[in-house]
Amino acid sequence: MRILGIETSCDETACAVVEDGREILSSVVASQVDEHRLYGGVVPEIASRRHSECIVQVCEEALEKSGCNLSDIDAVAVTTSPGLIGALLVGVNFAKGLALAADKPLIPVHHIKGHAAANYLAFPELEPSYLCLAVSGGHSQIMEVKSYTDFAVLGRTLDDAAGEAFDKVARALGFPYPGGIYIDKAARDGDKSKYKLPYPKTPNELDFSFSGLKTAVINIIHNAEQRAVGRGVFDAPLDKNALAASFQHTVCDILCTKLQRAAELTGHKTIALTGGVAANSGLRDMLNCQLSTVNCQLFVPPLSLCGDNAAMIAAQGYYEFLAGNRAGMDLNASASRGL
Ligand code: KG4
Ligand code: ZN
Repeated sequence: MRILGIETSCDETACAVVEDGREILSSVVASQVDEHRLYGGVVPEIASRRHSECIVQVCEEALEKSGCNLSDIDAVAVTTSPGLIGALLVGVNFAKGLALAADKPLIPVHHIKGHAAANYLAFPELEPSYLCLAVSGGHSQIMEVKSYTDFAVLGRTLDDAAGEAFDKVARALGFPYPGGIYIDKAARDGDKSKYKLPYPKTPNELDFSFSGLKTAVINIIHNAEQRAVGRGVFDAPLDKNALAASFQHTVCDILCTKLQRAAELTGHKTIALTGGVAANSGLRDMLNCQLSTVNCQLFVPPLSLCGDNAAMIAAQGYYEFLAGNRAGMDLNASASRGL
């Protein structure tokens, strides 16, 4: 069964064709990041406009690269939530038009469930049930994937998402948006024990809170800048690489510790990582190392499937289709629907 996936929840316009939820026939991602970088973050109005401008071309390219015509496609799957509402609506309305015109079933897909499905495209052996840590610019969640479509959230962020904290700290350190990858690179040359940072406590031990940690890092940067100005020195005496390494290590330690605790509490031995922050080399290394010591098997998507893409939406769409999940022409988008 061939599914055309459509993803427009944030700043990537993406279309892909996936066979039986596991094999990518094509995956096209048009990123708007260069334009949003000028503003230091995603500008929702610009995101919606760019999606509208390029979705037809991205879809045509995905079909062409897959060697399929629209008539070879069995269903259209689209991200409906969560995300920027104007951006989501472009994808949802395009998918509705396509499904209606081509007389194909329309499948609604939750973006975070889509991130989880990214691992099915890389690991044919991965099947539910398992634990999944989804860490992206908008979300940080530990989930129990009970079946392909039934998820239980065990822990979530109470404030900033992990990627959001990476991006805000990166901005304060003077790196371009999105800064996660720059922190990752700087951290490789830094001493992770140089700055002592707080480990925020949460009432539910599996929840996350990154806002206090982010503020602590930003305060260190501002204090260093002020001291430098007071001495008439313009170069702040700040060890940027060490601060990046200390921050990254603390975030990764929090994520790993809570994920390992979730594994202990649930007894799961299969664990998957996903989302944009899954690209972080420190997190991949630490999880690999820690989980192998407790006999857990870790699945981490290739870098190409960590960030937003439509192949993961088509993959999840396949399993939603098998579970009988269909949408009508009254399908709407939602900025914040739960799993
Ligand atoms: O999944 P994604 O593409 O979009 C959302 O659904 O939010 O995730 C984007 C996030 C950004 O915050 C970005 O800085 C972060 O993933 N990211 C990283 C790395 N690569 C991307 N964070 C840390 N280290 C990286 N190497
Ligand atoms: Zn995402």
